[in-house]
Amino acid sequence: MSEPGKPVLVSLRGASFAYEDGPTVLEDLDFDIREGRALVLLGRNGSGKTTLLRLLSGGLRPRTGRLTVEGRPVTYDRKGLTRLRTTVQLVVQDPDDQLFAASVAQDVSFGPLNLGLPKTEVRARVDEALDALGITRLADRPTHLLSYGQRKRGAIAGAIAMRPRVLVLDEPTAGLDPDGQERLLATLDELRAGGTTVVMATHDVDLALRWADDAALLTPEGVRTGPAAVMLARTDLLRQAGLRLPWGVAAAELLLAQGLLTDAAAAPRTPEELSAFLRADAASPVRADG
Ligand SMILES: Nc1ncnc2c1ncn2[C@@H]1O[C@H](COP(=O)(O)OP(=O)(O)OP(=O)(O)O)[C@@H](O)[C@H]1O
Ligand SMILES: [Mg+2]
Repeated sequence: MSEPGKPVLVSLRGASFAYEDGPTVLEDLDFDIREGRALVLLGRNGSGKTTLLRLLSGGLRPRTGRLTVEGRPVTYDRKGLTRLRTTVQLVVQDPDDQLFAASVAQDVSFGPLNLGLPKTEVRARVDEALDALGITRLADRPTHLLSYGQRKRGAIAGAIAMRPRVLVLDEPTAGLDPDGQERLLATLDELRAGGTTVVMATHDVDLALRWADDAALLTPEGVRTGPAAVMLARTDLLRQAGLRLPWGVAAAELLLAQGLLTDAAAAPRTPEELSAFLRADAASPVRADG
């Protein structure tokens, strides 16, 4: 369920944005990032997901409206942007737009060095970030010689070395193999357990249903936000946002209709969970959760 009581860390109010000589991408948009809530952003190609994430992380400035961090308006001067970037870190869609240093460790150290932190602190952060992404052994490798998935992990390590309160990821699982996706989700779980709020844009509705507390759908009528399990069962909104129904929603409906499941919140969220659920059901003559 959504928890309106959770403090809003980052908030856009009445934000509109258009690129130079381009049409309006986002208009009069309200968007909140709540502390501790896993938030997923969904929408068609070109609907403005990347644009919105860049507005939230200060890479773009709204034409109208404003961005606040814990209620304080963001100023787009050096000091204001540094403050914003220690709160919100964006990992861009294409790692090649983010990685530029000669080696992975140099790349990951760039942000902390730029904050003026002492060398020992920088070193500790780099080691921790590489370890969290499981790429310690790649530390001295040239970034351009890494595989796509390795570069993607390198880019995420660079963001978490800033120890942001909010980590914003633009399509982080795109291009990762299934094991790479699982490992990334496990890393995000660890970061969340450590107090980092995580926001991601994705086209993967099944991942969204499984991972997110809240879902924001970019539709032609604006952004629609609510609990992920509710939003991702709304076929009208899904259609508007160019998305299909997550298989988990259909499976839960079937299990509920068959009387195999009584609590929708306990519905399986992955094929593995569904399989385990059905096996447990077949094994027990009386359902324990009934
Ligand atoms: N640098 C730019 N200059 C001009 N127009 C841009 C620029 N970047 C994006 N756009 C336009 O802004 C709109 C929103 O693009 P954006 O990249 O935010 O969409 P998206 O939802 O992230 O799409 P995708 O799913 O393909 O990543 C699109 O119409 C796009 O063509
Ligand atoms: Mg995008």
